[in-house]
Amino acid sequence: MNPLNLVLRDRTHLWHPYTQMLTRPDPIPIVRGEGVYLYTEDGRRLLDGTSSWWVNIHGHSHPRLNEALAAQARVLEHVVFANCTHAPAVELAERLLRVAPAGLSRVFYSDNGSTAVEVALKLALQYWANRGEPSRRTFITLHHAYHGDTVGAMSASEDSVFTRPFTSMLFNVARAHAPYCYRCPVGLERSSCHIECLAGIADTSTLEQQLEQHGESAAAVLVEPMLQGAGGMIVWPPEFLAGVRHLCDRFGTLLIADEVLTGFGRTGRMFACEHAAVRPDIMCLSKALTGGYMPLGATLTTETVYDAFLSEDRTRTFFHGHSFTANPLACAVAAASLDLFHETNRLESVRALERWLHDGLDSLRTLPIVGEVRVIGGVGIIELVTDRVTKSASGYLDQMGPRLTAAFLDRGLLLRPLGNVLYFMPPYVITESETAWVIDQIAAVLQDPAIFR
Ligand SMILES: Cc1ncc(COP(=O)(O)O)c(C=O)c1O
Repeated sequence: MNPLNLVLRDRTHLWHPYTQMLTRPDPIPIVRGEGVYLYTEDGRRLLDGTSSWWVNIHGHSHPRLNEALAAQARVLEHVVFANCTHAPAVELAERLLRVAPAGLSRVFYSDNGSTAVEVALKLALQYWANRGEPSRRTFITLHHAYHGDTVGAMSASEDSVFTRPFTSMLFNVARAHAPYCYRCPVGLERSSCHIECLAGIADTSTLEQQLEQHGESAAAVLVEPMLQGAGGMIVWPPEFLAGVRHLCDRFGTLLIADEVLTGFGRTGRMFACEHAAVRPDIMCLSKALTGGYMPLGATLTTETVYDAFLSEDRTRTFFHGHSFTANPLACAVAAASLDLFHETNRLESVRALERWLHDGLDSLRTLPIVGEVRVIGGVGIIELVTDRVTKSASGYLDQMGPRLTAAFLDRGLLLRPLGNVLYFMPPYVITESETAWVIDQIAAVLQDPAIFR
């Protein structure tokens, strides 16, 4: 095979996500995956340092997941889910609810993370309308949020270069401070603060103040618990999450936990809500739901929310669905992924990874380019700055992402920094020596003067 065959054919016909097609480097032609490694058409081996957009947990091409998928394909590949049901959908729902935070009792399937969020927003809105409170229409989300690329999910996300071309199609949401402790929105230090970014001070952007202002019209508060991902890999104090639940209760509104990134162990607990024993009213899942194999979304909710849709009046029906709702192949592989959690004690692997990341990344804290190192579960994060005192991240760091990506690629490591935030989020099956190797590569690149010229 011509080694550049895939790249040339791709260049002729394809259009990639988040990619300026005029100036982009050639795409990396991947022909095979195994464990934490991806193999290219031109014979390179790359360690998958972002779990293929945060989806993979058991490693690529896992024999058990391969078999689950093949076995289901031999029996039933797909069927309409409006008026049919099937074993993979039922079994997965039963098993998800067994591990999900207490109180969640219903599963609504969709296709991906954005649709899981879209379903959550629509459920919340219609829940209040069905209960006779149609004026509860405002969503409160956090700064630095990212919830997806569909219209509702974009509306709920932080205003950014990604959403700006589409502003005219987005709806307004109220926005509250996120607990971005390294750049505290209310100018305090985590070591001595009392989570004032959430409540207790006269600042109109705390969630408490936003709820004071919009409480009567608030449909729901939507958050990414414990780890805000695409908005900068911001790790929360668990007290903030507990406080969000408390405020939602105080103001009588719903709490939607977007666990699309954090679900299935990524933060060291099965679900990030567990860090503060929080029970959300609605929870969004996708990404690692299928072990990273198939597109599948699930929006879980309580019996209280579900009951508000039961009526002789058909207008109270939840009119939402997708052609591939509850796809049997995706559900079967998701169930097999849950099996692997129990059989292999995957959560313990994440906690071991967390220890290796803590120990390994610690030595990088003193580098002049490193503003902060953060670790949660299987995610190691390094926020790069041009000035450690002012925490400035402007100037040459703007172009830093692509240069870092290229430097890591040369070393056999696939990473995709988010602007000035470099992070490492591998499949959970990575070994201690592989983790140490990755940290060595990161240390070498961050000390390479050619990159930070
Ligand atoms: C927290 C969160 N919610 C939603 C999404 C959207 O998921 P998808 O890309 O599958 O639409 C993402 C994607 O990164 C995410 O991180």
